[in-house]
Amino acid sequence: MSSEEIKIVAVLGAGTMGNGIAHVFARSGYDVILRDVERRFLDRGLDTISKNLDREIKKEKIAAADKPVILARIQPVTDISSIAAADIAIEAVPEQLDLKVRVLREADAAVKPGAILASNTSSISITQLAAQTSRPDKFIGMHFMNPVPMMVLVEVIRGLATSDESFHTTMSLCEKLGKTPVAVNDAPGFVSNRVLMPLINEATFCVMEGVATPEAVDAVMKLGMNHPMGPLQLADFIGLDVCVDILEVLYKGFGDSKYRACPLLRKYVAAGWLGRKSGRGFYVYS
Ligand SMILES: NC(=O)c1ccc[n+]([C@@H]2O[C@H](COP(=O)([O-])OP(=O)(O)OC[C@H]3O[C@@H](n4cnc5c(N)ncnc54)[C@H](O)[C@@H]3O)[C@@H](O)[C@H]2O)c1
Repeated sequence: MSSEEIKIVAVLGAGTMGNGIAHVFARSGYDVILRDVERRFLDRGLDTISKNLDREIKKEKIAAADKPVILARIQPVTDISSIAAADIAIEAVPEQLDLKVRVLREADAAVKPGAILASNTSSISITQLAAQTSRPDKFIGMHFMNPVPMMVLVEVIRGLATSDESFHTTMSLCEKLGKTPVAVNDAPGFVSNRVLMPLINEATFCVMEGVATPEAVDAVMKLGMNHPMGPLQLADFIGLDVCVDILEVLYKGFGDSKYRACPLLRKYVAAGWLGRKSGRGFYVYS
């Protein structure tokens, strides 16, 4: 299937990433079928999209009259059979292998034989997920960044069996969304997390060993390396539990001790200091 043939997009999961993905497709004129397991999760996702569209109106990125048109393109559904018309289904359910496999198998059975299946996973092997479906050649990773409506990158991950056609269609689809796709091959953590997580981990070791305070580590990286956010500020934003989980994937995937999670990171997670979402991580949030 070519990217021109893609008109209807199914998004599985209306959480942080799923509602962002639905937002950008609808804003670019696609019909979106947004699926979650309960109506209240869909309502919450649609509410977030509505608020984010208001922000875009304020910033003059879209016109006020566009908002109802964009929202009308998104059809919320709970029944998996309602995604049958989709030309591509993008999975954005929580990062648990068993759950993703179940959701992807359901989607595989629901959509037409030519449709592409994509996963927004941050760390699970695309090759492994693809092998659980009947169409590993039409399976690909589309790793959107948070917040999806604002971040330009999509890391496009080719599984071992992903066909050239599926790859080119996905790359061109990202461009039609106004995103910049970057192609990488399937490997633990892809490129984004394989490079980012050791940075966050090493920054945590600096704090644990008393080399510097979190504020000092972040200031060095912001002022000296031109990072817009310090690594510890970013870790709090991502969630320290998520960082530990991704480091585990790298550690197991490569069998290399350089990816072991810093004990201080584990200690914070054990204390429930998960970053912004729990009100405290490296920093305290009111
Ligand atoms: N949050 C981030 O910064 C970020 C960034 C990049 C990638 N990711 C990846 O995106 C994926 C989703 O993460 P998130 O942060 O949006 O999670 P989230 O918890 O915010 O949202 C997940 C949604 O999936 C729904 N869901 C659960 N089971 C479902 C099913 N069977 N069918 C449909 N929906 C179902 C949940 O109800 C929830 O609304 C994960 O794989 C994560 O690793 C997250």
